[in-house]
Amino acid sequence: MFFGLFKKKQSAVALGDFSFLGVDMHSHLIPSVDDGSNSIETSLEMLRGFVELGYRKVITTPHTRPDMFPNSQEALKVGFLQLKEGLKTANLPIEVEMATEYFVDYEFLQQQDITNLLSFSGKHLLIELSTMQAPPNLFETIFQLKIKGYNLILAHPERYGYYSSDFQQFEKLKDFGCQFQVNLLSLTGHYGKPPRDLAMKFLKQNMVEYLGTDMHSVQHLQGIKAILSDAKLMRLIQEYEFRNQQL
Ligand SMILES: [Fe+2]
Repeated sequence: MFFGLFKKKQSAVALGDFSFLGVDMHSHLIPSVDDGSNSIETSLEMLRGFVELGYRKVITTPHTRPDMFPNSQEALKVGFLQLKEGLKTANLPIEVEMATEYFVDYEFLQQQDITNLLSFSGKHLLIELSTMQAPPNLFETIFQLKIKGYNLILAHPERYGYYSSDFQQFEKLKDFGCQFQVNLLSLTGHYGKPPRDLAMKFLKQNMVEYLGTDMHSVQHLQGIKAILSDAKLMRLIQEYEFRNQQL
């Protein structure tokens, strides 16, 4: 009965891996620029994992957050070139692109040139919020980004528990044009029960457009691999109509 509420796909889906998603748009594979991979070897191990999991394309998204990870686009592009070189040598059958995960706080509009943000696949922009509290000017910031033509993807909304007692805020985010990207590991309880419950509620209410790995480490990779043997969870996400393949 629970599954009956979900949007159903018309065609059969592949079993046993995540090839039904095909594309991941949230990971931290550029070495030593944020809290993700700290070496090219680790990045390649994670990319090998993506191949084994059935992905055909990875859009990796290192953090851009001035107070913690003040990465310039130029610095990220240098790291990306190193990753591409490593990928070529390793000869892995996977397409890799790079964007970034922007931390949207009170000062975002002052600190970033919003006419020149690092977007992907037709001006998609991955944004995240603090897990402690949303910035008071959030909807103004979103409005300004939308005016510039960005298609906003909100990373892991299930981790913004401060809205869970005021669910209308999530609906308002959708009304403002934010697409939701839930983390695969949230569905396992990796971040705790409240994020898992919120993620499930979003799925039940058809509020989710993308499933992402948010892979920071080989440990995350192992956790995501373990999902493959969770038949109930796999059935749930295979029956849902995500938009990963369109990226
Ligand atoms: Fe992330």
